[in-house]
Amino acid sequence: MKKKINQVAKLLFESNYAVVMTGAGMSVESGIPPFRGTTGIWTKYGQPKMDSFSDFKKNPTKWWDDRRNLTIDKHIMELRESLKNAKPHLGHYSLCKLEKNKYIKSIITQNIDGLDLMAGSKNVIEIHGNRKRLRCLSCNKRINLGEYLPVYAPEPCEICGGTVKFDTVLFGEPIPKDIMEKSRQEIDKSDLIIAVGTSATVRPASGLFWIAKSQGTQIIEVNIEKTKLTTISDFFISSKAKSFFVDLENELFANSNH
Ligand code: APR
Repeated sequence: MKKKINQVAKLLFESNYAVVMTGAGMSVESGIPPFRGTTGIWTKYGQPKMDSFSDFKKNPTKWWDDRRNLTIDKHIMELRESLKNAKPHLGHYSLCKLEKNKYIKSIITQNIDGLDLMAGSKNVIEIHGNRKRLRCLSCNKRINLGEYLPVYAPEPCEICGGTVKFDTVLFGEPIPKDIMEKSRQEIDKSDLIIAVGTSATVRPASGLFWIAKSQGTQIIEVNIEKTKLTTISDFFISSKAKSFFVDLENELFANSNH
């Protein structure tokens, strides 16, 4: 493992634009279960219907009522519970330090938990949104909720009168244009991507890896098990997310007092 961490540190020194892309595996050590893989909640409860956005659009009031009355799938209950008290782990703080010291230029996360922002990371693109934000479906205006989580359907957008929902992207919902553009710009600028804790199965987020590869970007995959991404990764590191980032921080800052 030490040798591999040393190799990653060397690639980071040599890279001009390194991007970290994370999935649910990054938050597992903060107590949030992943969806797929051996410890995934969908492995436990079965994969849900993939049409939550069309359900929402058909009847937004029922969507909110179901969440208030807890008439929702077991896996959503378990996920909501785990999100309530989740805090960044040491790996999030190490990643924040890598960004602060410009080893990492940006973080594209598929996670909606906001843990990267809580740890102090700045250039974070939340490609599937953030559970502590509302968003207008028409003009994309976003509202930060802080610790308050609405239980009733929010008022229509004060700017354009559009429907307002959680910022979290539902299955079947397009990723907001501004977010997709920002993510693609980061991929186009990258010469190194470190993919951590993702099964790389959900498009269009996962498609960014294949685009990057086709553009000559090197890909390092960090996961506890191999995935479809492993086939195009330049190398695979079998590690949990937290220890990977803590070891990498130690490797990069061992002889300095950054
Ligand atoms: N450290 C690193 N990787 C881990 C850890 C860990 N501690 N624990 C689990 N993993 C890996 C699993 O092996 C799996 O490959 O994290 C990956 C999680 O995969 P998914 O659960 O599919 O999560 P993700 O890739 O982020 O899913 C993408 O799908 O469900 C939707 O919108 C949801 O954003 C999510 C998207």
